[in-house]
Amino acid sequence: MSTNERKLEAAKAALAHLPESGVVGLGSGSTATLFIQELGKLVAAGRKLAGVPTSEDSRRLAESLGIPLLDDVGPWQIDVCVDGADEVSDDLDVIKGGGGCQTREKIINHASGFNVIIVDDSKLSARLGEKWAVPVEVLRFGENTTRSRLEAFGPATLRLRDGAPWITDSGNVIYDIATGPIDHPAKLDAQMLAIPGVVETGLFVGRANLVLVAGPDGLRQLKKQ
Ligand code: 5RP
Repeated sequence: MSTNERKLEAAKAALAHLPESGVVGLGSGSTATLFIQELGKLVAAGRKLAGVPTSEDSRRLAESLGIPLLDDVGPWQIDVCVDGADEVSDDLDVIKGGGGCQTREKIINHASGFNVIIVDDSKLSARLGEKWAVPVEVLRFGENTTRSRLEAFGPATLRLRDGAPWITDSGNVIYDIATGPIDHPAKLDAQMLAIPGVVETGLFVGRANLVLVAGPDGLRQLKKQ
């Protein structure tokens, strides 16, 4: 089975966790895209589900599929959010932001009654930071000062796209902080968020109610004990 087929398996499995009718947080990235496409089929078949997108890409996709969307300001009552991840630890903490969308993703994750993370098994690690740097969204104003403070936690690399700074949906930049394996993700998250100029980190600590992992032996459902 290819990685894409595994992502699709996880995406389809998330459908079983949706309410009969209600509001769904729409994640970002390639796995979330597969989920949104599946959700579009349910809506086209008459299921009364609306979405709140975590990125402009997910918004465009949902609109193209005819999924009704709530406005951008809320307040929202989101029943379930389904999103991908870059790394999932044994404790089911998560690094997100490979697509640079972690700020909106975190806002919607926190506004959701239940959070489902969908991944293929390549995303699993014992500890966060073993495979991924932590993406941090930073205001452009004073960004070199913010960057030097973030470097207390590891080398900081400005994320680029086509040779220019990657600009997020909110007009900010991303620094990827190569922390190495993280012992205390909640503490690191709080330390990074305390730096003026940091908008949001890609550390999602204790925010996954259910992780659906597709691997060679089929689908596994991971929940915190
Ligand atoms: C975007 C994200 C994505 O969910 C994460 O990068 C995983 O993406 P993919 O499903 O393409 O591997 O956090 O900001």
